[in-house]
Amino acid sequence: MKTYKIAVIPGDGTGPEVVREGLKVLQAAAQKSGFKYETVHYDFGGERYLKTKEVLPPTAVKELKTFDAIYLGAIGHPDVKPGILEKGILLKLRFDLDQYINLRPVKLYDERFCPLKNKTPKDIDFVVVRENSEGLYKGLGEFQKKGTKDEVALQVSHNTRKGVERCIRYAFEYTRKNRKRKELTLCGKTNVLTYAFDLWERTFYEVAKEYPDVKTQYTHVDATTMWFVKNPEWFDVIVTDNMFGDIITDLGAMIQGGMGIAAGGNINPEGVSMFEPIGGSAPKYTGKNVINPLAAICAVSMLLSQIGEEKAGTAVENSVIAVVREKLKDLAAGKMGYSTSEVGDLVVKNL
Ligand code: IPM
Ligand code: MN
Repeated sequence: MKTYKIAVIPGDGTGPEVVREGLKVLQAAAQKSGFKYETVHYDFGGERYLKTKEVLPPTAVKELKTFDAIYLGAIGHPDVKPGILEKGILLKLRFDLDQYINLRPVKLYDERFCPLKNKTPKDIDFVVVRENSEGLYKGLGEFQKKGTKDEVALQVSHNTRKGVERCIRYAFEYTRKNRKRKELTLCGKTNVLTYAFDLWERTFYEVAKEYPDVKTQYTHVDATTMWFVKNPEWFDVIVTDNMFGDIITDLGAMIQGGMGIAAGGNINPEGVSMFEPIGGSAPKYTGKNVINPLAAICAVSMLLSQIGEEKAGTAVENSVIAVVREKLKDLAAGKMGYSTSEVGDLVVKNL
């Protein structure tokens, strides 16, 4: 029997607290399903950076490539200038491990936690496939005449045919394999971003010819945000670029009940993938045992499905659903009616 190797990066703020609960659940899932795993912890994050002045050791990427998956808590520290850790750790790992998909399910587990009127779990159940290696995140651009009154700042969205196509193909495959409705929406801005989304749109409809079983549609990103609020039931799977995907998935997280429940996977379908709660390090709640660990536990569920333990992944998700529906008063930090560790225990017990 294979022993899975999982790298754990608890990271900053509440990251370590929620990762601890996720690992409890992982252990219970392994016992129940009978698979074996070992973990190696890495101390990457703000504290390490402040002590050593090094964001990532030079061997980090090479080492991480030897794992079956990476489990990440959160990156971001109040004493470190914004951008250093995000670019130096999170984005660097996404790029260097070529995790070109950011998969973000938006699923409402209990209508009590939806801020939208009259929307129930059957209305909010879609997945965003965000391109995760290009676009504006490539960091291309320059200052001209910096510091003068004639200053210009250029920030370029870099889209390659290969990069766009592999993302779109992943989205079609994902839709075909995992979704009942089999509807894929391209979210873009073809009316203004006439280079980038021209490429996206052409590629989308070309690839679509190979997937006659998948229904396609196109929406502009601004309208997409409107429909997330008005008619979220219109969406099944959405594919979009890096920047739009970043923005719409925060809105997605809100309509599924908040950051306490939203998880994502940075996926390299041919390599090592990294799973994380998408909410960030939440410094003000750090060390208080009040943060909701369910997003981190949902990340474990996604991790399990990705490494081939789909049954265990589904079992973890079902336990989260049961705890959300039967136990929790709220999904927000400090309002759950239970502490962080108690919520982890509830999931383990249900499992
Ligand atoms: C996310 C985050 C990151 C992003 C930040 C922290 C760089 O917002 O995972 O969505 O913009 O991708
Ligand atoms: Mn984001």
